[in-house]
Amino acid sequence: MVELVAEIEPKLLERLVELEREAFGDGGMNEWHLVPVIRHGRVFVSKDNGIVVGEVQYMLDWDNPGLAYLIGVAVAGEVRGKGVGTTLLAESMQRLFDDKIDSVELTVEAGNVAAIKVYQDKLGFEVTDFRKNEYGPGQDRLVMVLTRDKFKESK
Ligand SMILES: CC(C)(COP(=O)(O)OP(=O)(O)OC[C@H]1O[C@@H](n2cnc3c(N)ncnc32)[C@H](O)[C@@H]1OP(=O)(O)O)[C@@H](O)C(=O)NCCC(=O)NCCS
Repeated sequence: MVELVAEIEPKLLERLVELEREAFGDGGMNEWHLVPVIRHGRVFVSKDNGIVVGEVQYMLDWDNPGLAYLIGVAVAGEVRGKGVGTTLLAESMQRLFDDKIDSVELTVEAGNVAAIKVYQDKLGFEVTDFRKNEYGPGQDRLVMVLTRDKFKESK
């Protein structure tokens, strides 16, 4: 089940930070990052039997309000590879595209095979750019974009 986070609850916040830390270590979002994104962007969660097992955050692009930037997506380690990430992204982006969003952009490490498989093969994202040292020396990133039309085609 995919849900928009509409209210900030301490237990939920704690769980989101836990998932971020497991997935990204020190690079994960903390409470101070997540609260503004919940309030001013969009955060969606996947629940399994009431337990949050996945989360994704989006922000609007200042220069292009039709563009949502996918800040990050994380699925709990013990349930990865079972379709949770694909469903979370597909359902959350469907809601964005039904709203006022025309395209979704993200960056990903070129070696992140599981994430690229989901983005490219399952959802139809296309590589549009390569940013060398994007997050510091050696932290290169691929830029990927999915338009509303491409998303419809890939379904
Ligand atoms: C990326 C992530 C969100 C995907 O979530 P998920 O629930 O595992 O995704 P799905 O199960 O829908 O799909 C993953 C696919 O990648 C495949 N996969 C996983 N690891 C793989 C690997 N090392 N090599 C090749 N394929 C791999 C899975 O088999 C699956 O494909 P399949 O359904 O055809 O078998 C999850 O792996 C995660 O949280 N990773 C850590 C955080 C991260 O890297 N986030 C993305 C960067 S912002």
